[in-house]
Amino acid sequence: MHPSFNIVLVGFMGSGKTTIGRALAGQLKRDFVDMDIELEARAGKPIPRIFTEDGEPVFRRMERDLAVELSRRSNLVIAAGGGIVLNPDNIRDFSATGHVICLQASPDEILRRVAASTQRPLLEQGDKGKRIRKLLNVRQPLYNAIPCQVETTGKNIADVVADVMDKIPNSKQTENSKEEK
Ligand code: S3P
Repeated sequence: MHPSFNIVLVGFMGSGKTTIGRALAGQLKRDFVDMDIELEARAGKPIPRIFTEDGEPVFRRMERDLAVELSRRSNLVIAAGGGIVLNPDNIRDFSATGHVICLQASPDEILRRVAASTQRPLLEQGDKGKRIRKLLNVRQPLYNAIPCQVETTGKNIADVVADVMDKIPNSKQTENSKEEK
């Protein structure tokens, strides 16, 4: 991998993108961008309010515009939102300038991780476990289509970060690239 390539984490809600992305960025001494946090800052309101006040299509448009913008930058670790795979253009653009890695987790593990959260509007409509399974029915093929996969179920943060590093070609070189410059 070219040392300046972005590293883009995708995966379902609760798959660990933010937690792993932040740890990875620290280890690689790269800037970290969490797309959801960035979109909330730009909209001036939390994601649940973007969904209720503006609607999901507006959120997807903002997400798409940010994906285009970030894919033109370099040297970032990016945690995408869970719905980034819904628009294949996002994956195409991220793949052109970055290494896209999909984090996977079982539905039970996802439910455990998101159980206490009220910040995910797509999981707030009825029983969370049922919503997770319903969304996964549609989306699992899209996540599975990403060539680079890391399983996170039952693993701690350090183990997942190590597994992600193993998937990044020349990650040692990438890790040292800042000092070499
Ligand atoms: C979404 C996932 C969320 C956030 C929004 C929609 C999705 O991000 O972008 O609530 O469609 O899966 P996380 O995966 O970071 O929770």
